[in-house]
Amino acid sequence: MLNLILFGPPGSGKGTQAAKLVDKYKLLHISTGDLFRYEIGHKTELGMKAQQYISKGELVPDEITIGMLKNKVEANLDANGFIFDGFPRTIAQAKALEDYLHSRSLEVDALLALHVHDEEIVKRILKRGETSGRPDDLDESIIRNRIEVYKSETSPIYDYFDKKGKAYKVDGIGTIDEIFDRLCKQIDSIHI
Ligand code: C5P
Ligand code: MG
Repeated sequence: MLNLILFGPPGSGKGTQAAKLVDKYKLLHISTGDLFRYEIGHKTELGMKAQQYISKGELVPDEITIGMLKNKVEANLDANGFIFDGFPRTIAQAKALEDYLHSRSLEVDALLALHVHDEEIVKRILKRGETSGRPDDLDESIIRNRIEVYKSETSPIYDYFDKKGKAYKVDGIGTIDEIFDRLCKQIDSIHI
């Protein structure tokens, strides 16, 4: 199994790159943001709870997110591996993911962090908002809040995995194919 965390701020291209990576490495893409949007679309109890946070650009409480993530992994343990996109978002989520994978004799193999500066992110998300149908992509103050939450709550996860020698930085500026090549080179260098 190859288990990768695709890391980076909102709008850094995680979803776009994950779609290409799953094709190449035959992994299962798990985007917690997409899972929440599915739940919201189906007006489930979990979706209604999550929406209160997502609409403000805040994080959904860990216990809700971790429970949903575990269910998804548990239902797909026959996969070749996973690409986690948008998860973990907090150190508590990172630890819960590791504990869960360890309990299944699995581990996080690498965290790949896409680097994109703030103004480019705001530009990209506003552009995505023209077609994504995501209310949280339309309002610049919500987008900026998401970036702030990323900096305070999420970015420390990089150091957490860096201390374990598992974190890799990738330049997230360029064409989709250029960035994909950079990611593949990193993955191939750690996964022989
Ligand atoms: O990952 P994505 O950008 O699609 O997530 C959209 C929103 O879902 C986030 O801004 C946040 O409100 C919520 N979310 C969360 N915890 C996660 C993933 C997403 O709270 N682990
Ligand atoms: Mg995404």
